[in-house]
Formats: sequence, C-alpha cells, structure tokens
Amino acid sequence: MQKVLIATEKPFAPIAVEKIRGIVESNGLELVLLEKYTEKAQLLEAVKDVDAMIVRSDKVDAEVIEAGKNLKIVVRAGAGYDNVDCEAATKHNVVVMNTPGQNANAVAELVFAMLLFHIRKGFTGASGSELMGKRLGVMSYGNIGENAARIAQGFGMHVYAYSRSTPADYFVKDGFEFFVNRKAMFEVCDIMVLAMPSAANTKGMINYELLSSMPKGAILVNIARKDLINEADLMRVLAERPDISYLTDVKPDAEAEIIEKFGKQYFSTDKKMGAQTAEANINAGMAAASQIASYLLTGNEKFRVNK
Ligand code: 3PG
Repeated sequence: MQKVLIATEKPFAPIAVEKIRGIVESNGLELVLLEKYTEKAQLLEAVKDVDAMIVRSDKVDAEVIEAGKNLKIVVRAGAGYDNVDCEAATKHNVVVMNTPGQNANAVAELVFAMLLFHIRKGFTGASGSELMGKRLGVMSYGNIGENAARIAQGFGMHVYAYSRSTPADYFVKDGFEFFVNRKAMFEVCDIMVLAMPSAANTKGMINYELLSSMPKGAILVNIARKDLINEADLMRVLAERPDISYLTDVKPDAEAEIIEKFGKQYFSTDKKMGAQTAEANINAGMAAASQIASYLLTGNEKFRVNK
C-alpha cells in the first residue's frame, strides 16, 4: 500500500487531519503522521519509505528529498513553496505542488486583526484610530490580495492593488485602482499589505526608497515572507520615521533589536499563524490529499510547480 506522510512542525487542526485521512484511505492509501517534530532527523526518518508527503512551511531540502527513496510527490498545503527545494525535487523526479487559494481568506483576515489591534493601541483603553476612509494597498493582487481587498471594502477603505502584468501605469479592474509603479503606490497608501511570494525577483524588494516614501502615520503589514523586506532599510526608516509602523506574521531576523529600539512601531504574531484556522487547514489539507491521490492513481499533474 502506498504511504502518504503528513509532516507538520505546526500541525493542522485535528478535524483537518481526519478529513485528510478520509481522502487518503478511501483512495486505498495509508496515512502516516509526523506532527510537532523538533529535529530534522525525525523528518528524515519519517520520509524514508513514503510515496507522498504533505507539508506546510516545513523545510523540504535536498537532503529530505534524497532520504525519500520512494518519494514521488510533495504537496505544500498552502501557497508559498519557497520552503521546498524544487530543483532537487526535479532532479529526483519528485513532483512538487501547492494548493493555491485554499488558505487565502484566513491569511487575509489576519491582516485586519493585526491592523485593528495596532490602531486601537493594543486594546489598552488609549484612544486609537479607524480603518474607514484609509487607503489600503495590496501587493500583489493574488488570492490573498483579492480577499484583503474584499474585506477592506467592508471597512469602507479605499483599496488600491499592485500588478506588474500590464504596460499601463495605472488602470481599474474589478472596481479597484491598480498601480504598476511600486513607489507611486507606497506614496499614496496609508497601509500597505505585502502578500506576494518570496522569489528571486521579490526578495529584498521592500527597501528604503519605498518605505521612506510612505505617508505620515503609514503602516506596513507583512503577511507573506520575511525576506521580502530589506531589514537594514526597514530599521533605518523606523529610526528616521517614528510615525511608521511594521506589523508582521513572519518575524524578522533582527527582531530582538527591532523590539528594543522600535517596540511601539512593531508588532509580530508569536508564530506564523495567517493560515492557522480550522477552515484553512481543512481546505488546504483536503486539497493536498486529493491532489496526491489524483497524481498517484491517475498521473494528474494539475498544480505542479516544478515543471
Ligand atoms: C502559505 O504560504 O500558504 C502561508 O504562508 C501559510 O503557511 P503555513 O501553512 O506554514 O501556516
């Protein structure tokens, strides 16, 4: 019987695991569970004899791929697959997939949880401010961006989106105004939400030029990946502009120093938790299980990312 491993350092909700089990077993496959592991050795041991693997932000590097002697497919139950070494997977004929959009609403909702907590001064009773009428920019307008834009409309915000896929400088789509010029967008938006993947062309993209051009009292929300930000530039701007705040679901490398120097301008979740809801776990986990069953049983490569 072919085996499907769920390897999650940050586990899915139990109900999601049961739903994944249902899909796996009804397709004649066996489920193996490795949750809350603390050592890479545990992952290397668990992957040894499985045919498929479901992960979240778990690091699937060349060593893990090589340890999986029977491994045929890795599905990242989520959007960003920067944690999977796609080159090593391709070299070993291992298919890599993600489950785009399945956890996007949960991630988008957390943006507003962090924003409300911050602008209401941590619910301490101090006088805060409101989202209504503020300009919110989403970069980029993918699955998370779309959900953030929809929710922002409910708050009565002016929504702007970023897209680099058109030659026009500025256009309107889905009722939203789009920028293709990053700096122009940072100059206009009171709140900028980062929701793009970590890739060669996005790493370090959020730099001094962009950050320092934000309007007075601006807030940057990073719901995506820490390496989108040039941290030295971020710290320089936080020092020069005490009016600017940084809220993040992905802790920066220099967090201790940022808290010490700019504590009032900074908020981070304890652990990356944008996608940590039962609904998102169920959606992404079930999609991953179905994609694995479909690939192992029929060769369906839809959602493959390492073509
Ligand atoms: C994603 O890329 O899907 C999100 O960052 C969620 O990641 P997680 O599954 O590790 O919570």
